[in-house]
Amino acid sequence: MIVDCDPGHDDALALLLAVGDPRLRLLGVSTVAGNQTLDKTTRNALRILALAGATGIPVAAGSDRPLIGELTVAADIHGSSGLDGPDLDGPVAEPADGPGVELMRRLLMASAEPVELIALGPLTNVALLLRDHPEVAPRIRRIVFMGGSTERGNTTPYGEFNIVTDPEAADVVLRSGLPVTMIGLNVTHQALATPAIIDRFRAMDTRLGTVCAELMTFFAGAYLRTFGLADPPVHDPIAVAAVIDPSVVHTVHVPVAVELTGTHTRGATVVDLHRRTGRPPNADVAVGLEVDAFWNLLMTAVRRLGEATR
Ligand code: BDR
Ligand code: CA
Repeated sequence: MIVDCDPGHDDALALLLAVGDPRLRLLGVSTVAGNQTLDKTTRNALRILALAGATGIPVAAGSDRPLIGELTVAADIHGSSGLDGPDLDGPVAEPADGPGVELMRRLLMASAEPVELIALGPLTNVALLLRDHPEVAPRIRRIVFMGGSTERGNTTPYGEFNIVTDPEAADVVLRSGLPVTMIGLNVTHQALATPAIIDRFRAMDTRLGTVCAELMTFFAGAYLRTFGLADPPVHDPIAVAAVIDPSVVHTVHVPVAVELTGTHTRGATVVDLHRRTGRPPNADVAVGLEVDAFWNLLMTAVRRLGEATR
């Protein structure tokens, strides 16, 4: 699989799951501006992969802004570095040469088997890939993205951050005709990093387990300040978990559209759960999560990586 991301606390956990589960082969990582500016999300991806001992995986910097309009970062949630909390200072490797979209294209065309494309930030890179390189379409097994919601939003009353940041890109992906799975806030808000969960990462007694605990502790403070939620939802690793073990999420195949022009709702995902529009279904939308199975997957991967990189 290929991961496109904007680390980001929960993106970091998702990368660790992608690297740490032996059933997956992570071919490469492209980064996008979202939670923070592109230079920061790229540096953060490189930092996390280095911590995981996965320096051989190419990381390339993708889009530094949405298809239309200005970038608004989520410093209120992820801090000024995009990954505030743990001390991750130290030398950082250089990203791969060439743009992120080019890395995706190259990896897809070189793969003997169709590849899962997992998008954990604004969908800018994925939209550009599909628009500028239509020859990759048969090489994509599925696009799994974290974004949107069947319910309310977290950035506007009805808009989730990744979709609100680049609604046009999400629209391209959802209208691509490719198999698409949407992991929205309606399920990610079931995966809450409670103090008991955070303690289990700390109790691993590895550098990686401690970094995860510190990431989630910072995230908890941000969610408490911003949303009054004591236990923060860890969104992005659920998209990776859904690829490793599809039984972790329950989905329905329904029509989904992105609101591009609403006065108050630009960037909302309009999910036709009751099939009232008569439109053809275009996405598998997650509506349920096996919470314990999800945490077990993530903890097993982090424990495994932590012990290997002690
Ligand atoms: C999404 O927005 C980002 O802040 C997180 O990394 C996640 O991808 C949740 O709305
Ligand atoms: Ca993200």
